[in-house]
Amino acid sequence: MTRSSNIQTRKMKLNIALLAGDGIGPEVIDQAVKVCDAIAKKYDHDISWKPALTGAAAIDAVGEPYPDETHEICANADAVLFGAIGHPRFDNDPSAKVRPEQGLLKMRQKLGLFANVRPTFTFPSLIDKSPLKRDRIEGTDLIILRELTGGIYFGERGRKDDGNTAFDTMTYQRFEIERLAKKGFEFAMKRSKKLCCVDKANVLESSRLWRETVQAMEKDYPEVEVSYEFIDAVAMRLIQWPKGYDVIITANLFGDILTDEASVIAGSMGLMPSSSVGSNVSLYEPIHGSYPQAAGKDIANPLATVLSAAMLFEDMSMTNEAEEIRRVVNKSLAEGYVTEDLAEGGKSYKTSEVGDWLASNI
Ligand code: IPM
Ligand code: MG
Repeated sequence: MTRSSNIQTRKMKLNIALLAGDGIGPEVIDQAVKVCDAIAKKYDHDISWKPALTGAAAIDAVGEPYPDETHEICANADAVLFGAIGHPRFDNDPSAKVRPEQGLLKMRQKLGLFANVRPTFTFPSLIDKSPLKRDRIEGTDLIILRELTGGIYFGERGRKDDGNTAFDTMTYQRFEIERLAKKGFEFAMKRSKKLCCVDKANVLESSRLWRETVQAMEKDYPEVEVSYEFIDAVAMRLIQWPKGYDVIITANLFGDILTDEASVIAGSMGLMPSSSVGSNVSLYEPIHGSYPQAAGKDIANPLATVLSAAMLFEDMSMTNEAEEIRRVVNKSLAEGYVTEDLAEGGKSYKTSEVGDWLASNI
């Protein structure tokens, strides 16, 4: 992950919107709160949490998945910490009028979160948990920047011919590509100066606009080496040789798929954090979903959410605080103080026990 150069050392007063959401969301969020509170205590900061409803929980309470009240709280916060969204009761009902996921999409759009930053890295103590071979993945450190408020997720869609034909459209405007690509170039400048634009320009017109737009920006970043690759080929190379990538920029749907794929490199989806950024408030969330089968059982892995909180601190230039969280997470992994997904039949700990352990080791 990128390091910020101006380290913040003064006392910070942070107002954080807390959107636990559905499934395991509330459980993993609780652990991140414990960890952040421990950080605040150690480094003398003041965090005030503003809980708000979202997802199926919000549909049940007020009939919609991203209520205005929640939006107000998020829009006025310094950052948003988000758990997960989704409930099987809606997945199995294609006729449902309101769905929890709509809340997530509305939130991304209304908060203007156009760039989703999804890092992929390996943890030394977990290399052998990945189904991929050690020599392929050891040392992987890449960032996928997924466009988040455009493309096929937000294009025109519908049915025709009495419902027998359905369509979704992938629409991109130049400014949407430019602002995402700009973030990509900026990340590349802070890292190894390699940027890969992933698209399907051999078939899709919107991808050709991506290429044209990114190519035109190359002159502004002469030090960055830019490559252009097709999504299908990248889906293959990403797990064949992930070390070949550093910063990837891509469209909404392509990024959705590639980031799930990339999580396999780290060994568990329960480990990968993310941030979504735009021009105002940023949002931090684990890349995993609501994992309804595990909800309420106190078994979900809280580390992705805890590491998302580290990204939050990093973005606030609170670098020592972010480092401290990563240190304690690595310590828990090295000492085997982990949830059952990482325990391989050995001793495992509850979600809440891992959270307590992390907080008490700060
Ligand atoms: C993600 C998720 C969401 C997405 C779903 C839950 C709508 O898969 O954040 O990657 O597709 O963006
Ligand atoms: Mg996804």
